[in-house]
Amino acid sequence: MKKFVALLLAMIMVLSLAACGGKKAEEPAKESTPSQEQTQTPEVKEGGTIGVCIYKFDDAFMTTYRNALQAILEDKGYTVTVVDGNNDQAKQNEQINTFITQGVDALIINPVMTSAAATIISTVKSAGIPTVLINREPTADEMAAYDKLVYVGCDAAQSGTFQGELILDTPNKGDINGDGKVSYIMIQGDPENIDAQLRTEYSVKALTDAGVEVEQLNLTRGDWDREKGQTICANDLAQFGDKIEVVFCNNDDMAIGALQAIQSAGRKVNEDIYLVGVDALDAALNEVKAGNMTGTVLNDATAQASAAVECMEGLLNGDTYAAGEQSVYVDYVKVTPDNVGDFMK
Ligand code: BGC
Repeated sequence: MKKFVALLLAMIMVLSLAACGGKKAEEPAKESTPSQEQTQTPEVKEGGTIGVCIYKFDDAFMTTYRNALQAILEDKGYTVTVVDGNNDQAKQNEQINTFITQGVDALIINPVMTSAAATIISTVKSAGIPTVLINREPTADEMAAYDKLVYVGCDAAQSGTFQGELILDTPNKGDINGDGKVSYIMIQGDPENIDAQLRTEYSVKALTDAGVEVEQLNLTRGDWDREKGQTICANDLAQFGDKIEVVFCNNDDMAIGALQAIQSAGRKVNEDIYLVGVDALDAALNEVKAGNMTGTVLNDATAQASAAVECMEGLLNGDTYAAGEQSVYVDYVKVTPDNVGDFMK
């Protein structure tokens, strides 16, 4: 564990050096010690007020993420308000406007809908608020509209590729029944979200790129939700039975749901079916360790929260971002029974 914490810290430090490559603001000339009056002016960049908008609190991964974000910000002396968008973009738009009216120094926003990014960006730009978008990546063109804006997240394609590789690393490369092809079901997150789109595509592409034939039995949206994951997997098991060799889930919460369905159907992961997720939630790490999940992929909430805060501080100090250079990525990490211990608390 100590080794892992040290590794994580080292990774965060490397990331801190590499991340947030905004154009550095000129160092302001230090003339005199700021007076009490000056510390209340908007020029003061430390210990400011930060508004954080989360797409919905009722999301397992975003709960870990927002807790990390809040802890890091508070630790640094910021006054933080974190609000729940309840998966409702209109509500989140109001929350953003309220933060702007209240005069927050910076915003960190996890958009409800990626398609709303252009509107969000135009709102924060008009108000001149430095903004970090997280978790749901807009297009580079949309971000180019505002140079005090940066996106912090991960390269979703990488997590998909890692999921595919977890299956390729099994003794039969996913072809449990030896019929020459891997028959799978895909339980997808919200398909509006680029993470869902790219994980769906790249998990399968890793297999086909390795020359493995695949057969998709079903693809169903589970909206990142555990209960939906369970229902979808139960229905698919009832319909396709032993034909299903691999269950790909775009995230761990749906994979945990799918596992319940797999166990109820009397199937055994890693013997007659494979199951992979993404996020490395604590519950999933336990299941990987117990052999009830083939593997997962660490979606590093703490590292992303650190990078988001670091970028925010850069923006507060006047950094600007050139078009095409506004995305900061944290690496995913493959989690298998061999290394799962490194990730457990
Ligand atoms: C995570 C999901 C989460 C989603 C929310 C993804 O990156 O893997 O667990 O539900 O973000 O947008």
